[in-house]
Amino acid sequence: MAPDRHLAVYPGTFDPPTYGHLDILTRSRRLFDRVIVGIGRNPEKRPSFTVEERMAMLEAAIDEAEITGVQVEAFDGLTADFAHERGAAAIVRALRSVTDFELEFALDIANSKLAPDLETVLLIARPEYTHLSSTFVRQAAEQGRRLIPGSVPPSVEQYLRKRYGF
Ligand code: COA
Repeated sequence: MAPDRHLAVYPGTFDPPTYGHLDILTRSRRLFDRVIVGIGRNPEKRPSFTVEERMAMLEAAIDEAEITGVQVEAFDGLTADFAHERGAAAIVRALRSVTDFELEFALDIANSKLAPDLETVLLIARPEYTHLSSTFVRQAAEQGRRLIPGSVPPSVEQYLRKRYGF
């Protein structure tokens, strides 16, 4: 079956989701009619929030931002297989810096060999989000009992406050 050119997968760890992720999602929807947000496993990371929590945070944040045409799913295994199984034509990823570029460059080569029909679309993060990461958001919440201003939507803020008690 040929990939659906209207459908993309946006994979990530989302531990937790931030405004940076929502911005990429909003912009992905300008390119694709439907986007599946895929919560995947990065073997190098041990997430603080469960898959269920991350899914609930993403769904609430997407509702709050009134982004339509998006569904959230968790997946195991390879991103290329997940995207291929869903019939997506593209994987969307964000580039915050040249450091991200090196990883995305290697990932694209691996993914295109694993699933030759798939294209990776790299969106450059908006300047206000280039220095943001989920790790920084968690560190500020865990160690400083506070939020990085402008980093996460209210729905995610609630989870952080509850988890880290502030
Ligand atoms: N604004 C701000 N921050 C952003 C951002 C944006 N637009 N886009 C990404 N980030 C941040 C994230 O918060 C995250 O921060 P962290 O490292 O502090 O957690 C970081 O950039 C990158 O994470 P993310 O985009 O979530 O991806 P990841 O590098 O954790 O990869 C998968 C997650 C699931 C896509 C990847 O591990 C994967 O593909 N796994 C499956 C196995 C596979 O297919 N491997 C590849 C080929 S064999």
